[in-house]
Amino acid sequence: MAQLIDGKLVSKKILENLSDEILFLSQKPCLAVIIVGDDPASKIYVNLKKKKALELGIDSIVEEMSASTTQEELLNKIEQLNNDDKVNAILVQLPLPKHIDTKIVIEKINPIKDVDCFHPYNMGHIATGCKPYVYPCTPKGIIRLLEYYNIPIEGKHAVIVGRSNIVGRPMAQMLLNENATVTICHSKTKNLEEITKTADILISAVGQKNLIKAGMVKDGVVVIDVGMNRTDDGKLCGDVDFYNVEPKASFITPVPGGVGPMTICSLMQNTFDLYKIQNKNQEI
Ligand code: GUN
Repeated sequence: MAQLIDGKLVSKKILENLSDEILFLSQKPCLAVIIVGDDPASKIYVNLKKKKALELGIDSIVEEMSASTTQEELLNKIEQLNNDDKVNAILVQLPLPKHIDTKIVIEKINPIKDVDCFHPYNMGHIATGCKPYVYPCTPKGIIRLLEYYNIPIEGKHAVIVGRSNIVGRPMAQMLLNENATVTICHSKTKNLEEITKTADILISAVGQKNLIKAGMVKDGVVVIDVGMNRTDDGKLCGDVDFYNVEPKASFITPVPGGVGPMTICSLMQNTFDLYKIQNKNQEI
């Protein structure tokens, strides 16, 4: 039987400390979120972020822009937020409508306000073993979970399934920086099962239910499930066949209640950290 990695509990503890620290600030940190279009899932995520920020005493600005917004209008909005001293953190909710070039948009965000750590300046720091202003939210949340449960990383074989810019790629770099031996698998990987079977730490960030089956993991594996999928009867589930994999694992994250709460927790922590970086001469 595996020990459950309780992201709800860990994030609650981190956020309790954070809200205490925010109380002592002279001003409130401010997170600006831009959402373009009316993707229902994105709207839900943005509302969750706004609600959590308000709970913690973080100001939040939500800029809702229509699906027909031009790239130039979006770049102008980012420029305005870059120049607004009250705004410490900028998040452009992805995905963007097809007529907008995501790369150009991300590169417009001032790296010191890049709360997602998507800008190449910050990503490049991670890739060269240096510190970005803040780390990307989901990978940062996963590292914090491993630390909380005293799960060693150094020298372990970490296998990541999925190579997205949001999770897989930065996760690989961050685990490498923690001295893991890292393998990234993706849709073109041959013999996925042979590779996942050698994982001490297996992180799945694909978005495909039941991708990771019991026959694909070794006994004692630590399983981190980043997937967010729906079962046929509409329940939230991850990438891992939890029922059959859990008995073989030493630690495993549930979905929901594992990685998800840690991502939003990291976002709040990053907003606070950017505030502190930008005001380091003012605060005592
Ligand atoms: N869309 C899905 N996940 C994320 C995220 O972590 N950040 C942003 N900006 N958009 C997303």
